[in-house]
Amino acid sequence: MAHHILLLPGDGIGPEITAQAVKVLNAIAERFKLTFTYDEAPIGGAGIAASGVPLPDDTRDKALKADAVFLGAVGDYKYDDIDPKLRPEQGLLQVRQALGVYANLRPVSGYKALTHTSTLKPEVIDGIDLLVVRELTGGLYFGQPRGIELNAQGVERGFDTMEYTRPEIERIAHVAFKAAQGRKKQLCSVDKANVLKTSQLWRQVVTEIGEQHYPDVSLSHMYVDNAAMQLIRSPKQFDVMLTENTFGDILSDEASMLTGSLGMLASASLGDGSKPFLYEPSHGSAPKYAGLNKVNPIATIVSAALMLRHSFNLPEAANAIEQAIAQVLADGLRTYDIMNDGEPGLKLVGTAEMGYAIAQAVLSPVATR
Ligand code: IPM
Ligand code: MG
Repeated sequence: MAHHILLLPGDGIGPEITAQAVKVLNAIAERFKLTFTYDEAPIGGAGIAASGVPLPDDTRDKALKADAVFLGAVGDYKYDDIDPKLRPEQGLLQVRQALGVYANLRPVSGYKALTHTSTLKPEVIDGIDLLVVRELTGGLYFGQPRGIELNAQGVERGFDTMEYTRPEIERIAHVAFKAAQGRKKQLCSVDKANVLKTSQLWRQVVTEIGEQHYPDVSLSHMYVDNAAMQLIRSPKQFDVMLTENTFGDILSDEASMLTGSLGMLASASLGDGSKPFLYEPSHGSAPKYAGLNKVNPIATIVSAALMLRHSFNLPEAANAIEQAIAQVLADGLRTYDIMNDGEPGLKLVGTAEMGYAIAQAVLSPVATR
């Protein structure tokens, strides 16, 4: 059976990191005797260049018909002054919405070889393994009304709406509780219930879902400001962290640094199963590094592993990618962002070399050291 993947390379470094994931997927196909077929379509700035909008109709149609959608990154400062409705980032938000991928999983797992790369002390992060479950199609990002207008006094006023309905909270809570059941059975729900109405409903609904369906999972609640502090004070206290869209955007960037670099943080965006899922690294398009063969492709390659696991039910193939990454890191290969100057045995490599090394390690695995 062939698995059909729509590639949306996007902008900036998007094309070069996507190409590394394809290299690794092709190695997986060879080793596990699988067939992946690919199509490609423009999104973000590339969508604007091709058809004047960040999510061209043809891209949306192809996405809905694929078995899975794999995205590089969107965003380009060329479009900073464009009508905000046409910003490249809108393409990403629109494709998330079109696919109905409300559950964004961002696993933060430390690689032994990188324990000394983080800006945090090794003992704080050694053995780190947490999962951020971010609600992805609601909250401030999508709430209406929103706008910039003149108020009655003629003063400019910008406004957004943070809103969540009970069903939106229930379905993401189910995802987080189920994820916790497959892990250490600890769920920390992050909110700002001391101030925000949406958070008060969020806390109530998450508590109810836990009591009714998941008595085996231990649920705690934490205010988002405290969570930001606890994440760097003692991150190992967390197993699964559940949060709404905007808080999850912020906290997951913070959590990525526990692994040493934002370039390590993958993501899977899942829906109810009626439409394809979306996979993308959690970082942006870093236009200033575009085409320099410099950035770290690992977040993108791990996202491919998540695709194998969540869309194609190929857990062994997914594990093979993760082991290959661990192997290459143990061998000392580093892109600039995870380079630890002064540590012996490390070799600085570019994007393509890192992708190639991981593909090779998929093809000839050695026991993980
Ligand atoms: C992310 C990114 C996006 C988001 C941007 C590019 C719109 O930061 O995936 O975390 O905020 O969701
Ligand atoms: Mg982000």
